[in-house]
Amino acid sequence: MRESEIIKKLLEIYEKTPKHDEGYILGSMTTRPDNIAVYAYNLFIHTNAGDTRIFPSLEYFRKEIIDFMKKLYGECTGFITSGGTESNIIALYVAREKTGRKLVIAPKTVHHSIIWAAHLLGMKIVFAPVTSSHIVDINSLHDIVEKRKDEVAAIVVTAGTTEWGSIDPVREVSEIARQYNIYLHVDAAYGGLFIPALYEKGYIDTHLRFYEGVTSISVDFHKNGLSPIPSGLILFKNEELLSYARRELPYTLGKYQYGLLGTRPGGSIAAIWAVIKKYGIDGYSKIALRCMKTALYLYNRLTEFQEIIVWKPILPIVVFKSRHMSSEKLLEELVGHGYYVYRAPSVDGLRIVVMPHVTTEHIDRFINTLSEILGEKTE
Ligand SMILES: Cc1ncc(COP(=O)(O)O)c(C=O)c1O
Repeated sequence: MRESEIIKKLLEIYEKTPKHDEGYILGSMTTRPDNIAVYAYNLFIHTNAGDTRIFPSLEYFRKEIIDFMKKLYGECTGFITSGGTESNIIALYVAREKTGRKLVIAPKTVHHSIIWAAHLLGMKIVFAPVTSSHIVDINSLHDIVEKRKDEVAAIVVTAGTTEWGSIDPVREVSEIARQYNIYLHVDAAYGGLFIPALYEKGYIDTHLRFYEGVTSISVDFHKNGLSPIPSGLILFKNEELLSYARRELPYTLGKYQYGLLGTRPGGSIAAIWAVIKKYGIDGYSKIALRCMKTALYLYNRLTEFQEIIVWKPILPIVVFKSRHMSSEKLLEELVGHGYYVYRAPSVDGLRIVVMPHVTTEHIDRFINTLSEILGEKTE
């Protein structure tokens, strides 16, 4: 095929591909990356973060990104990954290598990638109970740790769970981790960039920081950070921990690599650098507040239905279900009307994640569609 024909075909296919700005992608934790991030990504598309001796500019970006994260969470180090799954695998790998142990303690609300990571690494998970607010029950966690303290490699909690946006009590868990000298990984893939701002503005009462007992934090820039996929980040409390994630690759110029991948996209690192320079802490804070307000707007609109049960959002995630129609049927109806929402399996409900591209106009249109499907008028 000639290039012009390829482009024609690509554009044809692109035309039929859903785009975030149209407002129909309401379940996935993805969004349209910012233009400056796309520009930076494309400019550095040829670079390989697997060898920063050839591409030292990537190391410059990485250091600046870490400096930004230090302002959010306190002293730390780390590197860019392909996303939350890779970051979680690395965190558990480091915990296993450091301790020589294979037991993970986590509430059952952890993301599936933690279960996958444990499986890959030959580790076993003991699930701690959660409260009705979908956060780890701190007393039960303490009891499990006390009983299994000699076997535990890591405790894992989540700052912004995938289903509810609930935030495990990081500070209290970190006290337990400190008391027993246990590795604590906080998966903040979804909530990491929103929690500091929403905490400061009083929307939530759980903060996220490198408290003394926190060992690693993962946060994704391809979720609320407006960077292109793949853009994740794994942060460690100190360089010694980071060194466990490093492996030798003697034939390369750099000699060492970090993370699971060999050749890694340098474009992502340039993109994250570009968005943090554009938005800074204040810019991300504004995005967090906007998403939260839109989520509360959606919550309020859903309460207008007799037929709908809806849960108040913690972070910008709204869970709801129909009283009479099964969630599978409602999901299919919505997909039939062009909407992509996700499931909330623990209550057999559905879930909308208000990502930065979602506006109140999108919500109003969604509510009209829902009203049509349920045959119920709203105010
Ligand atoms: C809390 C949490 N951790 C990890 C992940 C996995 O991230 P990724 O899809 O970037 O691998 C997700 C994805 O939704 C998540 O919500």
